[in-house]
Amino acid sequence: MGEDKRRVAEAAALLVEPGMRLGLGSGSTALLFVEALGRRVADGLALPAAVATSRATEEAARRAGLAIADMAHEAAPTALDLAVDGADEVDPALDLVKGGGACLLREKIVAAMATRFVVIVDGSKRVARLGAFPLPVEVVPFAVAATREAIAARLGVRPTLRRVDGAPLLTDNGNLILDCPLGAIDDAQRVDAALRAVPGVVEHGLFLAMADDVLVGTRGDVERLTAPRQ
Ligand code: A5P
Repeated sequence: MGEDKRRVAEAAALLVEPGMRLGLGSGSTALLFVEALGRRVADGLALPAAVATSRATEEAARRAGLAIADMAHEAAPTALDLAVDGADEVDPALDLVKGGGACLLREKIVAAMATRFVVIVDGSKRVARLGAFPLPVEVVPFAVAATREAIAARLGVRPTLRRVDGAPLLTDNGNLILDCPLGAIDDAQRVDAALRAVPGVVEHGLFLAMADDVLVGTRGDVERLTAPRQ
């Protein structure tokens, strides 16, 4: 499985052309992409400062020799040519669940900024229907209990506050993550609308109609899936 991740990461790095404005995803597969990209930059590929979707990716990118833009600056990039990221689930329509690494807010912003959003996964991430992976929802800490109740009432689930070493996990944005075990999702648009209607919800991990291509690493090969809407 590790080899499959490495293979898709390297395939994605070959999509990068000189001068491209890039978004760099988070998670183990995206970090392999960052490393592969770093090798191309060391070989002479010239790129403007890229946008990282997490502090961890930013640090890895700098170690790999990539320049990273300060996205809190008012003159920060507003558009990207290509964003590359991993996913926790990919369905046949190329809709995704993301956020296993708690980076979903920045990941969604960066994917939305990109002309082309390419997802890189190993074959274990392909599912017939989204939802076996608990849906991560980023919420502000203020009134987290009320927000959790509201999500529970709207979706009929028991969201779990994500913890690390016993303490609530804080995202790079200073927020909390509620993991929602929805089970098979029949109507992702309804889930999206229900979550958006809850004050306190910042973003959720359903990435609907966002991926342009998915590169899947399976048993020594890379399969390319293109969104049916294109
Ligand atoms: C980070 O929040 C996630 O969306 C990751 O992109 C996702 O969890 C995939 O991670 P791996 O590449 O480590 O499986």
